Amino acid sequence: MADKAIIMKDICKDFKVLNRHEGLKGSIRDLFSRDYKIIPAVKNVSMEIEQGEIIGYLGPNGAGKSTTIKMMTGVLEPTSGEILVNGNIPYKDRTKNCENIGVVFGQRSQLWWSLPLIESFKLLRDIYMVPTKEYEEMIDLYRSLVDIEPIINKPVRQMSLGQRTLSDILAAFLHNPDIVFLDEPTIGLDVSMKSKIRDLISGLNQTKNTTVILTTHDMGDVDALCKRVVIIDKGEKIYDNDIEHLKSYFGSYRTLSLRLADDTWEEHLIDESKTDIMDVINSKQKEIGIKDIKLQEISTEEVIKKIYEGGAV
Ligand SMILES: Nc1ncnc2c1ncn2[C@@H]1O[C@H](COP(=O)(O)OP(=O)(O)O)[C@@H](O)[C@H]1O
Ligand SMILES: [Mg+2]
Repeated sequence: MADKAIIMKDICKDFKVLNRHEGLKGSIRDLFSRDYKIIPAVKNVSMEIEQGEIIGYLGPNGAGKSTTIKMMTGVLEPTSGEILVNGNIPYKDRTKNCENIGVVFGQRSQLWWSLPLIESFKLLRDIYMVPTKEYEEMIDLYRSLVDIEPIINKPVRQMSLGQRTLSDILAAFLHNPDIVFLDEPTIGLDVSMKSKIRDLISGLNQTKNTTVILTTHDMGDVDALCKRVVIIDKGEKIYDNDIEHLKSYFGSYRTLSLRLADDTWEEHLIDESKTDIMDVINSKQKEIGIKDIKLQEISTEEVIKKIYEGGAV
């Protein structure tokens, strides 16, 4: 096992895309065109990730998260910079890198569509040459972490989205890789399935000391799983530290929730160093009347929103 799980140094990825022209004439022109533009998707990103960490890799749509993960998994070659995943250069040592990693990309299942899940597992066991004893132990661990009975004999095509995601995550961990990449795993899932999946990821990380790189838009995932977050915006890394550290930047912010006379809840994000919370409460009380009050520290959701709005901290 390498010293660090992941080392990235000044990684850039540019995409070269054709400048498209409109209409039939335009399409024909495009066939012969050399009119390209460069999209810098990832710009000078560096980071080091220790074995066993769960990293929340966050950023708005189009920020460059998936492109980064594709470089870490060896699907894409960086335009420049250095990258080591468990001591391997992913795009060069693709086979070796694959033995050490597991991947779940959003809603695209990696499993055999019409096979019962257990048969997919057996195929993966054979592909990765997992010794029978370790395989059995892993299945036992799965049983202890999540109820696999409803899915284990089901073909993936008959599964709900949640069951499929669960299956994909189990499959990604099956050969006990050092690092697992989860790109938007909880997208589109209901609250109870999200919570099952968080428990599963957390349980596997703790038992196997697996490094997990997680991209998500769900701050509930971040709160439940990640101590450290890396935030990327327009291809550039704008934050890399503990989530608590991030919240301390906004130490004077509070989320004030008010249940009004008409039973609706209203949320205010208040900077206590600028606004007196009692003033807000008093004026609302006069305006419509208040039935209940909740005052909390700023939520992860609000913190991330503020970072996106304001750029680097
Ligand atoms: N294969 C590709 N060809 C051209 N542009 C791409 C390609 N993949 C991603 N991009 C562009 O790179 C940027 C980053 O995309 P992506 O990494 O998918 O962002 P994220 O996962 O954070 O939403 C976007 O502007 C996107 O349009
Ligand atoms: Mg993406």
